[in-house]
Formats: sequence, C-alpha cells, structure tokens
Amino acid sequence: STLPGKKRAPFIVIEGLDRSGKTTQTSKLHSRLTENGIDATLVKFPDRTTAIGKMIDSYLRSTSELDDHAIHLLFSANRWELATTIEKLLLAGTAVVCDRYAFSGIAFSASKVDSTGAPLLPFEWCRDPDVGLPAPDLVLFFDITPEKARERGGYGEERYEKEEMQLRVRNFFRRIGEEMDGEAQSAGGTRWISIDAGREREEVEHDVWGLVEPLVTRGVDGPVGKLWT
Ligand code: TMP
Repeated sequence: STLPGKKRAPFIVIEGLDRSGKTTQTSKLHSRLTENGIDATLVKFPDRTTAIGKMIDSYLRSTSELDDHAIHLLFSANRWELATTIEKLLLAGTAVVCDRYAFSGIAFSASKVDSTGAPLLPFEWCRDPDVGLPAPDLVLFFDITPEKARERGGYGEERYEKEEMQLRVRNFFRRIGEEMDGEAQSAGGTRWISIDAGREREEVEHDVWGLVEPLVTRGVDGPVGKLWT
C-alpha cells in the first residue's frame, strides 16, 4: 500500500448510460492512477468472464432468453462473487475503480416495462439483492441526454440499447442519486456526484481526476461500508 497509517484505499464507481463515455474514462482513470504510482485495480460489471457472467453475456447478446427476475438476480450475484475480493483489495490499500455497479443493476431492471408500459419489476425488489454489498466511497454518475448519446454514433446491438429504455434508465439513476444524497450515512457513506458527460473528453477527464486524486492520496478512515444498510 502507498497510503499513510491505517487508512484503506477508496472504492470508486463510475455509472452512466450506454454511450456516456464511461468505459473510456474508467480505463483512463485507472492508467493515470497507475502512472502516478497509486495501487489501483480496474473492475467492470457485468464481469462477463465468470460462469454467471457468461450467462449474462449470452442474455445481453440475445442468444438466450431468461425470466426478468432471473437475469436481475444473476447481475446481482455477479457482483456478490467479487464482493470479498473488492473488500480485501481496499483493506490492502489498493484502490478499486469500477465500471458500473449496483446502481446500473437497479436502474436497468426497474426500467423494464411490459407491452402496456407498466413496470415489470418493482424498484424495491430490484434494490434488495444488492443491499449489503461493499459501498463505494464515491460514485461518479456520467449524465448525458439519450439524444446526445445517440449522436455519438448510435446505440449498439445489445438488449437495452434503445432510446426509450435509456430515457427511463436515466430517470432511475437520478432518483437513486437523490436518495443517496439524502441518506449518505445510512447508505454506507457513499458520495454521489453527477458529471456532465456531454462535454469534451478532456474536460470530463479533468473533472474526474480532480475528484478522485485527493481521495486516493489521502485514503479513507474506517471499514468498508455496506450499501443501503
Ligand atoms: P456494459 O455495456 O457496461 O457491459 O453493460 C451491459 C448492459 O447491462 C448495459 O446495458 C447495462 C446492463 N446492466 C444491467 O442491466 N444490470 C446490471 O447490474 C449491470 C451491471 C449492467
């Protein structure tokens, strides 16, 4: 560990819509940390490499069908399979930079609707399986309008990459962010910051570094929090 005293490393999550530039920025952040001599590990959800991750991957690419409840629980299980690893890394002084987390889990599943437009899964039900996961110290929510995201070269071929879906997802992300702000303590001490991801790549990168650098340099006191407990 490169941290002073008994401090642990921070858990940083980057969330956002598809095409928000999130993945590019997450890996840039990871390389910049490493270049600056800071221990950091890059994690990405869904982690498509595990057995559960392979099921998620084939669902997303529509090569398999799954009940909406079942796929939701698989996404959550895919995070739980890494929970202990994440906690150990943080305690050992390695910062964890994570591309998507439980907030995507809720926002995407809660945005699914039937043919009449009625929600398929209640919000609370979507949140429950992720209660108690390691809580991030900082969430950077990459906010972008679905129109702007589309202008960036269109959505891909995967499930959920449709504009109406993205619009609902964005609203759920915002709602989750507002609730996190209101209950910062009970939510495990997570700080939620919205980043205007519609700007130039360099501007976004500058803001991200400005928020992350002080946190990784100072380290964090106390144990890793638990989400929504
Ligand atoms: P990716 O493009 O970042 O690999 O994510 C794949 C899709 O899965 C993306 O549309 C967001 C969605 N997703 C969920 O529905 N639930 C989850 O828990 C996560 C992590 C992602």
